[in-house]
Amino acid sequence: MKFFVDTADTDEINSLAEAGLIDGVTTNPSLIAKSGRAMSDVIAEICDLTAGHVSAEVVATDFDTMVSEGRKLQKIASNVAVKLPLTMDGLKACRTLSDAGTAVNVTLCFSANQALLAAKAGATYISPFIGRLDDMNIDGMEVIEEIRVIYDNYGFETEILAASIRNANHVKLSALAGADVATVPPNVLRGLANHPLTDKGLAAFLADAEKAGIKI
Ligand code: E4P
Repeated sequence: MKFFVDTADTDEINSLAEAGLIDGVTTNPSLIAKSGRAMSDVIAEICDLTAGHVSAEVVATDFDTMVSEGRKLQKIASNVAVKLPLTMDGLKACRTLSDAGTAVNVTLCFSANQALLAAKAGATYISPFIGRLDDMNIDGMEVIEEIRVIYDNYGFETEILAASIRNANHVKLSALAGADVATVPPNVLRGLANHPLTDKGLAAFLADAEKAGIKI
């Protein structure tokens, strides 16, 4: 399973990339706004920090402008994946940009049928939003499981990118359901390393090493 980090914070991305923990980055307009910087600058800087895909989202909603924004975003760096919303215009723009060789991440997916359409439109990634479904008392993980079965039934190559991940359990369940990628907020990604028994065991080993005067 690939890990993308879901942030536009370049310090966080740099530190996680140095630890060898990430395979790409996802952003959205809300995350770019939070960075307080110009979108083209942030995306260019992020693209230098990882060799993997960096999702940059259009802000238009009509086909022509989405395609023109997508082309501008793609020119920032060769590893940009243009993020398009799951609307009819977005799907049409997905087909146009994919046919031209641009990687496309179709976002704001909340159902297996939407994911089926994105695959037929040639999407590189489909982003089902688990957390936002869970917020509405709908099982987000079930959508990932359904998409996995449908994509496998028909041999679609679109990668399932589990998004809107809020906790470690979402990461584990996405991996078990066969998502190809999880895009994870930095704090959740770091939290995956934590276990109280690891801390307790390490403290005991270090205490014994000190008592015995072990040196390496
Ligand atoms: C990723 O591509 C999405 O933009 C992101 O995961 C959304 O997460 P949220 O629902 O926590 O805002």
